Amino acid sequence: MADIELRSRLPGVGTTIFTIMSEAARKCGALNLSQGYPAFDPPDELRELVALSIRKGRNQYAPMAGVPELTEAIAGRTAVRDRRRVDPVNEVTVTAGATEGLFCAIQAFVGPGDEAVLLDPAYDAYAPAVTLAGARPRHVAMDYDPARSHFSVDWSKLEQSIGERTRLLVVNFPHNPTGALLDAEDLDRLAAILRDSPALLLADEVYEHIVFDGRQHRSVLTHDELWERSCVVSSFGKSLHATGWKIGYCVAPARLSAELRKVHQFTTFAVSTPMQYAIAEYLERNPDFAEQLAGFYQEKRDRFLDGLRDSRFRWSPAASTFFQLLDYSAVSAEADERLALSWTGNPGVASIPVSVFSKDAFAPRLLRFCFAKDDATLDEAARRLSAL
Ligand SMILES: Cc1ncc(COP(=O)(O)O)c(C=O)c1O
Repeated sequence: MADIELRSRLPGVGTTIFTIMSEAARKCGALNLSQGYPAFDPPDELRELVALSIRKGRNQYAPMAGVPELTEAIAGRTAVRDRRRVDPVNEVTVTAGATEGLFCAIQAFVGPGDEAVLLDPAYDAYAPAVTLAGARPRHVAMDYDPARSHFSVDWSKLEQSIGERTRLLVVNFPHNPTGALLDAEDLDRLAAILRDSPALLLADEVYEHIVFDGRQHRSVLTHDELWERSCVVSSFGKSLHATGWKIGYCVAPARLSAELRKVHQFTTFAVSTPMQYAIAEYLERNPDFAEQLAGFYQEKRDRFLDGLRDSRFRWSPAASTFFQLLDYSAVSAEADERLALSWTGNPGVASIPVSVFSKDAFAPRLLRFCFAKDDATLDEAARRLSAL
């Protein structure tokens, strides 16, 4: 057995930084502000509904595309929130978290000889899925303004990167890890860039509800021209404090959804039945369930940053998501990966080095801290970091 030669399909991929940092945090007993999951439970009512679903015998395979109650609830929300009328039967697919939706979309839409353009810093699930599909990831760096600790899309660089071979552009707004957002004008720019290209658009919008300071998230779903070529992925993990349930969904025109489903049906086939029924019922009873989310996380962000006011870090308050980037250049000259590991031991706060989200050399000295934590953890983390 030891002699069998393995040909890795992902030779460059090791354990993800999220696992490495969480493991290091556990070993060191550090405050874990690295991996992006909430320290809170889903609402009691929703948990009760899951138990009820199971008791009611909703325990066997769900329909491949999702239980109708849930796909209809998603279509209903899309009509109200994004003014996009979608067909719940043919245009909404429930997946095992956003991750499975992203994976299936990438397998469905690119293949050997194709390129998929990714905006760096990029969430780590995109590039390996592109590679597994036999296509080539093409990384385009976002612009960083150190004076404002601010990331934005370099539209002309993005435009230049879209070539004959480009079959997919992956965007993620609200953006992990930078919190950047797109506005209506940006969507027009995106549409103009893609207008004469055969490329599809994959929009990862899992943080759609977590947007601060009165700003608005503009979904790709709101844009008539983009919608025609887009698959929009979201997740109940982020919006219901239920990342462990892995329930996400993809909304795409019927022609695209049909291709996506060809992959989905042989990846997971269907997604947890009792969770889907419970979420559908919960959404029906609580149509405004996500309205509190932004305020809730904004308070967390402000609390964390207030605790850091006398520190040597620099920042611009996150505009969205539950991640805050801190520029540590006044504290240390160390590379971010080494520093993140060393600070997990002392002062005992785990974070994520931002350079891991980029393929090419990444100069800014930034660490990402997840503030989806209880107040005591945030206060203590800020206290420890302020002592540096
Ligand atoms: C940008 C982004 N996309 C997708 C995901 C994964 O979502 P899910 O847990 O629903 O698979 C995450 C999780 O952190 C994320 O940050």
